[in-house]
Amino acid sequence: MTEPLRVVAVSGSLHNPSKTDVLIDEVLRQLNEVLDISSHVIRITDIGPKFAGVLNRKELPREVEDELRLVETADLLVVASPVYRASFTGLFKHFFDFVDQYALVDTPVLLGATGGSERHSLIVEHQLRPLFGFFQALTLPVGVYAHESDFDGYRIDSPLLKERIKTSIRRGLPLITSSVQEKRRIREALETGESVDSGVAPAEPQRTVRLFT
Ligand SMILES: Cc1cc2nc3c(=O)[nH]c(=O)nc-3n(C[C@H](O)[C@H](O)[C@H](O)COP(=O)(O)O)c2cc1C
Repeated sequence: MTEPLRVVAVSGSLHNPSKTDVLIDEVLRQLNEVLDISSHVIRITDIGPKFAGVLNRKELPREVEDELRLVETADLLVVASPVYRASFTGLFKHFFDFVDQYALVDTPVLLGATGGSERHSLIVEHQLRPLFGFFQALTLPVGVYAHESDFDGYRIDSPLLKERIKTSIRRGLPLITSSVQEKRRIREALETGESVDSGVAPAEPQRTVRLFT
């Protein structure tokens, strides 16, 4: 890959300082160790008050619209939210409700969450993964959950959590690199007017397959 990978992170936290922000920072730090990236972090603490009462994208202030466009054109998304009442924060969802339904198709997404309790770790699988499944995004196979005892104040104090982040990135790398290369190849072909070779062999002539007899 020639250009740096454009990574956009969204933190659903409503507080500053924030453990979710700390988790995101560590994910970005580790991503930077293995990939050439440029990163941008969107914090709901910063922009939440600017869109909380807005119901229609056309009425959003420019600043929020610009952040949405960065999300919609990212090569890789890193999304993380604190658990609030067993789900992501309401404003995290409200932000993604403005995202175009098809803008994240095939975009790799690393899922993360922080919670007060270990018992809510399945938020990643039961709340975040279906949301990004709706967008037809490529959610990376391993998500990251951090809870109270993984932190010493606002510092990660858990080698296991750091290892989990490393695993999430390592397992996600094939998806990340193949999706980015493919999207760039198609974009360049379209820009130069070349036909887009799908790389897939032509299909065999269709035969009728009876699934039920
Ligand atoms: C309104 C509210 C609801 C919460 N609900 C849950 C919950 O259902 N499960 C959980 O494990 N932690 C819950 N927590 C704890 C937060 O998820 C946890 O402290 C998180 O790490 C805070 O992240 P932040 O520092 O980025 O804001 C809740 C906290 C608040 C303020």
